[in-house]
Amino acid sequence: MKNKAMRAVALLLAVWMAVSLTACGKEGNTPDTPGNTAISGESTTDADSSENQPGPYKATDKLIALTFDDGPYPSTTGRILDCLQRNNAKATFFVVGYNAETYVDTMKRAQTIGCEIGSHTLDHKILTKVSADEIRNQVGGMDDLLQSELGNAPALFRAPGGEYSGVGSTIGKPIVLWNIDTEDWKYKDAAKKGRSEAERNEDLNRIADSVFESAKAGDIILMHDIYEFSADLAEIVIPGLIERGFILCTVSEMFASYGYTLENCEVYHSADPAANNTVAVAKGTYTVTTNGSVLLLRADATVDSEKLERIPNGTVITVTDSKPGWAYTSYNGQSGWVKASYITACDDE
Ligand code: NI
Repeated sequence: MKNKAMRAVALLLAVWMAVSLTACGKEGNTPDTPGNTAISGESTTDADSSENQPGPYKATDKLIALTFDDGPYPSTTGRILDCLQRNNAKATFFVVGYNAETYVDTMKRAQTIGCEIGSHTLDHKILTKVSADEIRNQVGGMDDLLQSELGNAPALFRAPGGEYSGVGSTIGKPIVLWNIDTEDWKYKDAAKKGRSEAERNEDLNRIADSVFESAKAGDIILMHDIYEFSADLAEIVIPGLIERGFILCTVSEMFASYGYTLENCEVYHSADPAANNTVAVAKGTYTVTTNGSVLLLRADATVDSEKLERIPNGTVITVTDSKPGWAYTSYNGQSGWVKASYITACDDE
């Protein structure tokens, strides 16, 4: 902000934020998971699932979001973008101001190939340790910067260090964290610590394998695009996830495709499609998992409809149709609807 015009914009923004943030409500005890943030006004029983699917993805797709923090940095971010492009994949980059304004072209390239740019503050400040004014400066200043460089302010925010407790309402944006941490940063200086190339490769493969073992639809994976180690890891993880049937899309695309609405001031760790009852179920075989209880087969996809059968826990069923939150199946010669939240896809489909 070196001229009067930019200062005026910043001042206007500060005033706007001070006014608009009062609408954010509670802070500090926001839920850690998205929960049932159904699209408002949408019926969960008879809406066509296709209505909830902006973009090219379906709610039944196996979506996952790779996220990279602290960049952009030309050499390493560039390699990650090359890899994404080769694999027709996308990711989300939570950029910091000092790198974003220095390496604008790298950031613009990411946006050009469909990646999402989120905010990670101007200066990577731990927001729980600074004043409310400084938080607004860190978040609002980043909005200014990305608006002027990319033509749009970031929709998403990631708190440096993942520290947001008590300051969510001052941040005033959806706070996107992660549920798979690669801890790539721990290995960034491995070469300088006298470890052999073989040991370094072992670390790379061990981390990649643990990502592959735990990855499931809706996950958000944390990495950093400023280290060579992370770019090496990305080059294993990106094609590896695709080989395992995942579609790598942006955070916003994944949440929207799974029927979630990202709310300002709320904290999100993943977009588990099974946890959102607006999402339809893919056809296939499932196991009934009701924690010892039974699952009711109903005539219609509503909780109040006629009960046809009681399906014991552990029963394997075949889903032939679905509505958001409900799956159609047959049991004991009767066909009807069961609640999707009580069935889990079989591993050996
Ligand atoms: Ni960071």
